[in-house]
Amino acid sequence: MTGKQKGKIIILGIETSCDETSAAVLADGTDLRSHVISSQISTHQKYGGVVPEIASREHSMHFRPVVQQALDEAQVTFQDLSAIAVTYGPGLVGSLLVGVSGAKAMAYASKIPLIGINHLEAHIYANFIQQKDLQFPLLALLVSGGHTHLILFEGHGKYEVLGYTRDDAAGEALDKVARTLGLGYPGGPQIQRVSQEGNPQAFKFPRAMLEADSLDFSFSGMKSAVLNTLNSARMRGEVLSVPDIAASFQEAVVDVLVRKTLMAIKRTGVKTLLLAGGVAANKLLRETLEMSLLKLGIRLVYPEPIYCTDNGAMIATAGYYHYLVGDFAPWTLNAVPGLSFPRLNN
Ligand code: KG4
Ligand code: ZN
Repeated sequence: MTGKQKGKIIILGIETSCDETSAAVLADGTDLRSHVISSQISTHQKYGGVVPEIASREHSMHFRPVVQQALDEAQVTFQDLSAIAVTYGPGLVGSLLVGVSGAKAMAYASKIPLIGINHLEAHIYANFIQQKDLQFPLLALLVSGGHTHLILFEGHGKYEVLGYTRDDAAGEALDKVARTLGLGYPGGPQIQRVSQEGNPQAFKFPRAMLEADSLDFSFSGMKSAVLNTLNSARMRGEVLSVPDIAASFQEAVVDVLVRKTLMAIKRTGVKTLLLAGGVAANKLLRETLEMSLLKLGIRLVYPEPIYCTDNGAMIATAGYYHYLVGDFAPWTLNAVPGLSFPRLNN
């Protein structure tokens, strides 16, 4: 199809902030016409984590084919698009730059607006891909490789950060423990996998709750407790069960996330919780929250695993809401690797 599709708002969403090159075409905010993800996980696996230089090189190679595939599968051309939305931060600078400069060039050449998307905000918008009936105010637990936030989401573009991690993110702690256990990258899914064979009560790892009324998190001490347990055992010549360690650590991380989330629900009185970010794919977290929230009559919403980790569909979805209020980026849009969560905007 060529020529503008009359009356339709068609957004091309592009994500390149870390190790996934992804593009999606979304019509009118809910009709996902295509979604392409080219993952670099197998490339980085042998290094035990993402190597930034390799990530940006891979994005450069895959960017144009991924975008073209997304357009082709959606049966649209650049002329049909209303705007191009792209992640401009936070993330790896070299990776972000591939997406930002590519999106800028394509939008400029096609004479359509460019929309700069905060990756953290987009993770929360992943919940809007499949749920059409979300009512504000919402509470969001955003748990990814780089961030752990509790956010009061009062309306489109209206956020209040209630708590965040003071050190490691939940996903980062899971990744580091997994690496020490020799489980490979990314660690979260591996911890989940081997935990199935382990006893979550085998080790009593500490739960960092910080001050009694704080909604902040701290995972660094919890991670160190695991590493200390492993080192002490090694010095004694003991071999500990990897599944038991993994299951006990997963249990500790989930326990803290759930307890803080319940505190935030009580404080805000919201009736719906959104899970977002890569760690939102975790089965134990979903099930534990589900059970606790059921008793309170609170609705739990989470995206399918494919929309929890980095993806272009969430960028297109966030882009749609920015489009509706005419929030377009200047042609000087640049990558902002340390971009923080958007501030409350009343
Ligand atoms: O949102 P994401 O794809 O990237 C960032 O924006 O950081 O999150 C990646 C994180 C990694 O730490 C990964 O280990 C974790 O999400 N993760 C999981 C699971 N799937 C991904 N953690 C626990 N359980 C999972 N099933
Ligand atoms: Zn992410």
